[in-house]
Amino acid sequence: MKLEYGRIFADQLDGEHGLPRPRLQDLAQRFPAVLAEVRSRRRAGEYGHYGLGDQADTVAAIRRFAEGVGQAYDHVLVLGIGGSALGTKALVNALRPAAWNELDDEAREFFPRITILENVDPTTVAAALRRIDPRRVFVNVISKSGGTAETLAQYLVVRSWLDQALGPDAAVRHLAFTTDPVKGPLRAIATREGIATLEVPEAVGGRYSVLTAVGLLPAALVGIDVTGLISGAQRALEKADHEPLHRNPPALLAALLWAADTWLGARIHVLMPYTDRLREFAAWFAQLWAESLGKKLDRRGAVIHAGPTPVAATGATDQHSQVQLFMEGPFDKVVTFVRVEHPGEDVTIPQRAGLPEELAYLQGHTLGELLRSEQEATSAALARMGRMSLTLSVPSLTAEAMGELIMFFQIATGFAGVWYGVNPFDQPGVELGKRLTFAAMGRPGFVKEPGPGGGGPPDVSE
Ligand code: PA5
Repeated sequence: MKLEYGRIFADQLDGEHGLPRPRLQDLAQRFPAVLAEVRSRRRAGEYGHYGLGDQADTVAAIRRFAEGVGQAYDHVLVLGIGGSALGTKALVNALRPAAWNELDDEAREFFPRITILENVDPTTVAAALRRIDPRRVFVNVISKSGGTAETLAQYLVVRSWLDQALGPDAAVRHLAFTTDPVKGPLRAIATREGIATLEVPEAVGGRYSVLTAVGLLPAALVGIDVTGLISGAQRALEKADHEPLHRNPPALLAALLWAADTWLGARIHVLMPYTDRLREFAAWFAQLWAESLGKKLDRRGAVIHAGPTPVAATGATDQHSQVQLFMEGPFDKVVTFVRVEHPGEDVTIPQRAGLPEELAYLQGHTLGELLRSEQEATSAALARMGRMSLTLSVPSLTAEAMGELIMFFQIATGFAGVWYGVNPFDQPGVELGKRLTFAAMGRPGFVKEPGPGGGGPPDVSE
């Protein structure tokens, strides 16, 4: 994996915008202190994702579990939200053929179809339950806390659907919970009813958990190489703790994005993979970057309201959409492209007699070539317009590469937490929303709080 970062510097752009190159030296000099803080916080029990490159026993147990469930089911239904769903969506999108659920059994090599129900939109939930056969479904309920309203509401709906179709005793065999090792309502239900469970390690927070049982079990169930994912993660971890800044790509990415934000006001960080297979990965990144770095308080408790705004885009699709803004709008963005050098499959644009000149140039090229050229052209055009960009290249999108990519961004986020001076592992804003939802839905112990205006009549225009 290679990070090209020249086009963040003013001397590679229009001379007016971008980071002055000597600033890289400032960042490199400050990096040992950043690394030291990460190390000391790791010793204190934070940064649990650093332990995920070495989990041979967990992976073996998950593979055994998935094989046990095996071909008894032809549909996997995942219930979860946020960090308990986005990573799994990214894995399936990247590592299973497109339109997986539409393929027949043979094309899926008899691995099940998969539905990941994130939201509680009743129309999505009802449609999924109409489509899925309860006799042939395996339901994986995923919640680290075990008490998130959306996931638990989904569980109750799905549980009663299973009970009605199969009877409560048989329903239990169709369920596995992935949750905290000891705490939380899901753990309590599992213990009481004898439902199979997998653990989310204590030290790994929701949005850092895709390479735990949270993402690994659904991935293994649909035939993704989970061993490869973990060895890729290990590869990303090997360098992260030792190398100086310029030989440490995730650390460099974090430092440059922080510098662009803090020193130049480029507080919008776009992730733009040039492949449909990383669309969901960009959405996963957006959650990781936003929820980890968007904080009111710094580590010392001072109010700072810090945090870059992540934006997910897809190349080439967004060249006909958001790229206009990236090219000519405010100078407040850095675009990080992700390029896959060998897409694994390519399609040649066929020759055709009598084509007008404006089309004939496409003949004989491949779609992969077109996509790569478009990425290069967009990066060059941005540079000409004085816009900063970085390019991360991945040789090919295998399970190893996905594990490495995921860990790369988790490591980068951990470093960015230090640069921004915030705790990248908590989410007090999300927790407040959860508490207010509990209150609104009448959960005992949670009281409704008046809004900022003291609870007066709402301002509404109809
Ligand atoms: O990153 C996080 O901690 C959150 O996005 C959680 O994953 C999300 O709120 C779901 O929480 P839980 O897994 O406890 O249901």
